[in-house]
Amino acid sequence: MSLDLARYRKALGAFPTGVAVITTNDPSGQPTGLTCNSFSSVSLEPPLVLWSLRTQSRLLPTFRAAKQFAINVLRHDQHDISANFARSDDKPLGDLDIVTGELPTVRDCVARFKCRTVSEYLEGDHVIFIGQVVEFDYLDEFEALVFYRGTYKAIAESIDRRAFSAKDIDEARRHIYTLLAELASERAGEADLQALERGVDEIAGLEREGKMKERAYQALEFFHLIAQAAHSPVLSTMVKTIEDISKDVVTEGARHMKWEEMRHPVLQKVRADIVHAIKAADKPRVSQKMHEYFRHSPMLLWQDRKFTAP
Ligand SMILES: Cc1cc2nc3c(=O)[nH]c(=O)nc-3n(C[C@H](O)[C@H](O)[C@H](O)COP(=O)(O)O)c2cc1C
Repeated sequence: MSLDLARYRKALGAFPTGVAVITTNDPSGQPTGLTCNSFSSVSLEPPLVLWSLRTQSRLLPTFRAAKQFAINVLRHDQHDISANFARSDDKPLGDLDIVTGELPTVRDCVARFKCRTVSEYLEGDHVIFIGQVVEFDYLDEFEALVFYRGTYKAIAESIDRRAFSAKDIDEARRHIYTLLAELASERAGEADLQALERGVDEIAGLEREGKMKERAYQALEFFHLIAQAAHSPVLSTMVKTIEDISKDVVTEGARHMKWEEMRHPVLQKVRADIVHAIKAADKPRVSQKMHEYFRHSPMLLWQDRKFTAP
C-alpha cells in the first residue's frame, strides 16, 4: 500500500503527546540528548518504558553503547529546551544538570525517569529502546508541555462546564467580545473587514435557505471573525475557550429549543451595524452595538438552566 506520507504524518500529529528530552552520556562521557515524543509507559511491575529513535540519528551509536538514559518530561514553558534538543548540530547543554559519572538530566522539568536499557528492537526506520526505571522524581506543581498537530500547546485549566449557567457564559462573552470588537475597530485590515462582511452575509444566506442549524453555528463564527480582526494573539488564544464553550452551549440549547428559536429578529441588523462601526473605527458605537447584541442574545432565553453538557 502506498501512503500519502505528508497526510500520514499529519494524521499521526492528531494524537497529542507530551514532550521529553532523552539524555545520556556519550562514550567519551560527554552529556547529550534529543527531543522525543515517542515516550510511553510499557509496564508498571516491573516499571518499563519505551521510546524510539530514528536509525539515521547521529545519536544511535551513543544510546546503544550507553546502556542507560534519562527521560525528562518538559514543563509547559520549556519549548526552548525542546527546540534546542531537536537540533542536529551540537546542542548547547546549559539546561542540563551535569554531574560527572551520572546521567545528565534537564533542570526543573515535570518528571524525570532514570532508566537502564533492557532491550532494543530495530523496527522499520526506528530503534525502540526499552528501559527499566531505576529512579524517578516528579514535580506536581508544574503542567507539562504538549505537542499537537506540529506545534507546542499548553494544557488549559480543565473546565467543568456544568458549573456555568448560560447567563454566566453570556456575561463573559459580552465583556470579552466587546473588548475584541473595540480592538478590531482600531486594528482591522481590509481582509478582516471583508471577512466580517462575508460572515454577516453567510448568516443571512443560511437563514434564507432555512438551514437554521448551520445558521446558529455561523452566528458563532461571526465572533471568531471579530476576535481575528482584533489582532491580539493572547486574547485570541484565551477566547478559544469561550468559543468552545459557546459551541457546546448552542449544541446543548438545541436539546431545549428549536433551531429556529435560537435567533432574534433584530440581531442580523445589529451584526451589520457592528461591522459598520468597526469599519468606521467608531469605538463608542462598536461598544454600544455589542451591548445591544448581547441584550438580545438567544442564550438568555434559557439563562436559568444549568448547562448540563459533558
Ligand atoms: C516534538 C518532537 C518530538 C520528537 N520525537 C522524536 C522521537 O520520538 N524520535 C526521534 O528519533 N526523533 C524525534 N524528534 C526529532 C529529534 O529531536 C531530532 O531529530 C534530533 O534531536 C536531531 O538529532 P539527530 O539528527 O542526531 O538525530 C522529535 C522532535 C520534536 C521537535
